[in-house]
Amino acid sequence: MRLHVVNHPLVSHKLTVLRNQDTDSPTFRRLTDELVTLLAYEATREVRVEPMDITTPVGPTTGVHLAQPKPMVVPILRAGLGMLDGMMRLLPTAEVGFLGMVRNEQTLAASTYAERLPEDLSGRQCYVLDPMLATGGTLAAAIQFLTMRGADDITAICLLAAPEGVDNLEAALGDHAVPVTVVTAAMDEKLNDKGYIVPGLGDAGDRLYGVA
Ligand code: URA
Repeated sequence: MRLHVVNHPLVSHKLTVLRNQDTDSPTFRRLTDELVTLLAYEATREVRVEPMDITTPVGPTTGVHLAQPKPMVVPILRAGLGMLDGMMRLLPTAEVGFLGMVRNEQTLAASTYAERLPEDLSGRQCYVLDPMLATGGTLAAAIQFLTMRGADDITAICLLAAPEGVDNLEAALGDHAVPVTVVTAAMDEKLNDKGYIVPGLGDAGDRLYGVA
């Protein structure tokens, strides 16, 4: 597994506002959106493209366009939905599949409660959107799900990661045959005994959408 912590002053600035408990939901949603677009720029560095001949007003040249099959963006419900627009801004022609995963607050184990994805993801690059890489359980389950469907290259975009989550994810993936990359805005200090990232930003879903 490859881990990429994006080091950029604008990323740090937006993340600081997200972390602040005084930031209201509308501002939190807007900054999540902007931050994801910055992370998406890094996360799509190896998106597959193929050559394309075009003609400029001055003459012919060869450029590139996104290769087929198109990338698949997979927000993990519910908090990952808050990252979708920011991602699609850079990849407007990608397809979107949904994965609903919930973690048991006692055992912290992740399970799938909903999915809307093609049966066959062969040859697809998948971009998983999950704001908080905390215990790593949700992301590991999502990556295993996508791999079982045939995805052959998976990049997870997370606003924040905890060292425990990264270690657990690496252990869960083991000698995973499919390349997995995690792109995040920061590696935080630790998890607390409730499985929250410290210092973190609290419950990402609640801060995006309110407590439900
Ligand atoms: N999920 C969240 O929303 N926040 C955390 O800190 C950990 C998991």
